[in-house]
Amino acid sequence: MTTVPPTAGLPLRAADLWPGGDADLASALARHLGLPHAQLECSGTAALVMALTALQRLAPGRCEVIVPAYTCPLVALAVAHCGLQLRLCDLQADALDLDPAHLDALAGARTLAIVPTHLGGRVADVQAALACARRVGAWVVEDAAQSLGARVAGAPVGLQGDLGFYSLAVGKGLTLYEGGLLFAREDALRAPVHEASIALAPPRLWMELRRSLELLGYAALYRPAGLGWAYGAPLRRALARGDWEQAAGDDFAPTIPLHRPGRWRRAVGVRALARLADFQRQAALRAAERLPRLAAIPGVEPVGDSPAVARAAGVWPVLLVRLPTRAVRDAVLRQHWGQGWGLGVPFVQALPDYRRYAAVVPPVPAQALPHARDWAGRLLSISNSPWLDEAHFAAVCAALRAAVDQAQPAARTCSRACSSASRTPT
Ligand SMILES: Cc1ncc(COP(=O)(O)O)c(C=O)c1O
Repeated sequence: MTTVPPTAGLPLRAADLWPGGDADLASALARHLGLPHAQLECSGTAALVMALTALQRLAPGRCEVIVPAYTCPLVALAVAHCGLQLRLCDLQADALDLDPAHLDALAGARTLAIVPTHLGGRVADVQAALACARRVGAWVVEDAAQSLGARVAGAPVGLQGDLGFYSLAVGKGLTLYEGGLLFAREDALRAPVHEASIALAPPRLWMELRRSLELLGYAALYRPAGLGWAYGAPLRRALARGDWEQAAGDDFAPTIPLHRPGRWRRAVGVRALARLADFQRQAALRAAERLPRLAAIPGVEPVGDSPAVARAAGVWPVLLVRLPTRAVRDAVLRQHWGQGWGLGVPFVQALPDYRRYAAVVPPVPAQALPHARDWAGRLLSISNSPWLDEAHFAAVCAALRAAVDQAQPAARTCSRACSSASRTPT
């Protein structure tokens, strides 16, 4: 059985793995993307920890961080790691952007940072967060963990806010197995984030050895012949137990490793980076061909870049679609998630609905955060890996069509009436 990875990660080649060579991955990525500054961290989560730690030192009286209520649980763990308080902002009904009215209501003199998030390669609106942050004296940290390579008016995402970061974890395009890139738009924040990193992330030999072995495992197994064993089998075991959070990879350890990525992994990243632009161009071409086919299925809405952002050009690790109801989305997952077609969800729940993160996410009433919860219930991600061939993509389309057809007619009507979210690539 073919097993397609859930996102389009860049495979490694044997030639990437030789020792030696240029190991200055931060500079290579900064040049590649056009960033004025970049510092390498051991994960996207670590990059967020460094960003928040630096801001905390600049404004010790501010203790709250506003994040989207539908985002990666690692964001909540990073905020808790820094001893800060999480404030959850709802999303918009028809875009994966922060709800500006809710954001304004949450922000105030205690706000340290607002974290708009570019989910699944899609470009989000950062201007509303910037306006709100300027009004209350807070900073904007752009979470572009899933969107390395996405651009706004030709500039890399992450540069509209004060600080931004990308993830270099498995499946995020370029990977060191785990890694992150943190950058600041203005000179004034570069020294504080550098100092935070020096203080918090020393070299750790055993951790680096572990990550190096994991990266070798990735190089060996991230290919059609290895993915059935490395990804498909554990996925099916988690689904058989009914554990969707584990199936989606949402079961994170509570502690955040902080250390320096070692020389060998950095050099592997520099060599693989030479192929990233072409890999992402091919992914954009596949998306441009496949998204209209998904949009042609009644009740299926592809999710595009934010309609509020002019000249947005996201990247396409996955194709995100919104289905008419949670019941339809869940029916598709129940039937097809384990089949190895690259289906999945960005995250299983809105943050307050994970029991395993109750210690780091404040409780909210059942009716709160309606749009974030709605997105959590209706989003489906379809891998945009080159290994999702035409036959399997056609099978995905047929499965979506069948699931919508089997649903109540009301679901289809709702979807048509409620939809205006999407912009697809041109
Ligand atoms: C939106 C978002 N933010 C932050 C992170 C954390 O990045 P990392 O996995 O590199 O620690 C992730 C990881 O999946 C993410 O999806």
